[in-house]
Amino acid sequence: MPSQNRKAVRIPDLIINMLPKDTNGTGKNVFGGVLMHYMDMAALNAARKVCCSTIVTRAFENILFEAPIHVGDSVYFYGSVAKVGHTSLTIELEVFALFTGTKARKVASARCIFVAVDENERPTRLEMLN
Ligand SMILES: CC(C)(COP(=O)(O)OP(=O)(O)OC[C@H]1O[C@@H](n2cnc3c(N)ncnc32)[C@H](O)[C@@H]1OP(=O)(O)O)[C@@H](O)C(=O)NCCC(=O)NCCS
Repeated sequence: MPSQNRKAVRIPDLIINMLPKDTNGTGKNVFGGVLMHYMDMAALNAARKVCCSTIVTRAFENILFEAPIHVGDSVYFYGSVAKVGHTSLTIELEVFALFTGTKARKVASARCIFVAVDENERPTRLEMLN
């Protein structure tokens, strides 16, 4: 693959195939709480690519469920750094769902704020990777 094409490919921070156990009461659509579980994980994976501190989730902002996710969908989570603070790191998260033979559709987004903590679980200076 030509190098400029490889650069254009965005690597997901998490891919999950949704199963019947992930649904809400309809038995068809994915439960929002299940998606939030994976959003937290994906944002952590994105944060770990850029920082080397022990971090904990401090806040989720602007969580938006934009379209339903169905059983059988493959769900792709993409995180990017939105802000680097003194002790905090904000990850912008976008979520897309894809079913065989269909175009990926955006289904959710959020901002996740992590805080670097020391051995006493108190905020400490965020250490970024070089
Ligand atoms: C994370 C924790 C150590 C932060 O301690 P704290 O004394 O409350 O820290 P502060 O509120 O002063 O915030 C620390 C940083 O987070 C930022 N922050 C805090 N709340 C925020 C919010 N709602 N939105 C954006 N940023 C926020 C602050 O701006 C600060 O960033 P900076 O140093 O880069 O400027 C503490 O709240 C905690 O232990 N929370 C539980 C974490 C956890 O268990 N997460 C898993 C959930 S089950």
